[in-house]
Amino acid sequence: MRNLKTLLAALLIAPALALASEGVHLDRAPDVSGDKAALQNGAKLFVNYCLSCHGASALRYNRLLDLGLTEQQVIDNLMFTTDRIGDQMTVALRPADAKKWFGVVPPDLSIIARARASADGSGADWLYTYLRSFYRDETRPTGWNNVIFPNVGMPHILFELQGEQVLKTEKSQHDGKEVEEHKLALTPNTGSLSAEEYDKQVADLVGFLVWMSDPEAGFRKQLGVGVLLFLAVLFVFAYALKKEFWKDVH
Ligand code: HEC
Repeated sequence: MRNLKTLLAALLIAPALALASEGVHLDRAPDVSGDKAALQNGAKLFVNYCLSCHGASALRYNRLLDLGLTEQQVIDNLMFTTDRIGDQMTVALRPADAKKWFGVVPPDLSIIARARASADGSGADWLYTYLRSFYRDETRPTGWNNVIFPNVGMPHILFELQGEQVLKTEKSQHDGKEVEEHKLALTPNTGSLSAEEYDKQVADLVGFLVWMSDPEAGFRKQLGVGVLLFLAVLFVFAYALKKEFWKDVH
């Protein structure tokens, strides 16, 4: 009986431990969901840097009006592959070419922020960490690798902004044991932005990816608050009415 219990416990705990040891450290993505200017900037970064390879076909350009942009602003600044504002944000790249060049077809990013949510953090945290974790790796066909997406097929698209990072391995002693720690370090080939500015741009871009994966989220929250306020007001009247009805009974 005891053996059985130990066995069961081991079976239950082992996968949990395996998962825990694989867990990666994700940086917290700043929440820009209420900041229209940040989301507009994120949309600009997305169409300029990502839409050439990744589509966002669940989204139509006119949805961008919800971010406080005018139709003319969307047409002038954000539309490169189509001239119809009701069109979906699809990608010009042909899947067969993508497969030839990158070995994989870049996935549609419409709901990537929801797809990447895990026990380690939200999808936003994953994306925020991913876009800041590319490093130089000459053994890869693209010349780039990524700490949280090993051997990724995507090159570091934003390297002109961030600059180049290398992965340094540091050895240190912990309780008499030698442990290796991997750390990203910027090389002197720095990009056009400072580290803080780069993080801010990535935060805006991730904010946009999060918004895109659920454009109704803001409306839903407002509706929730509205409903609660309505119920609160209704309660006052219902209570007054109840008092009125029962006043002669007591
Ligand atoms: C030159 C083409 C190209 C561009 C431009 C590009 N990507 Fe990618 N991206 C890829 C490829 C190819 C993959 C698939 C990588 C793999 O599976 O190994 C990928 C994968 C990803 C993934 C991981 C998807 C997953 O599997 O969960 C994310 C997130 C992503 N890209 C975001 C972006 C963002 C944000 C931008 C704009 C800043 C961007 N990409 C620009 C080619 C590109």
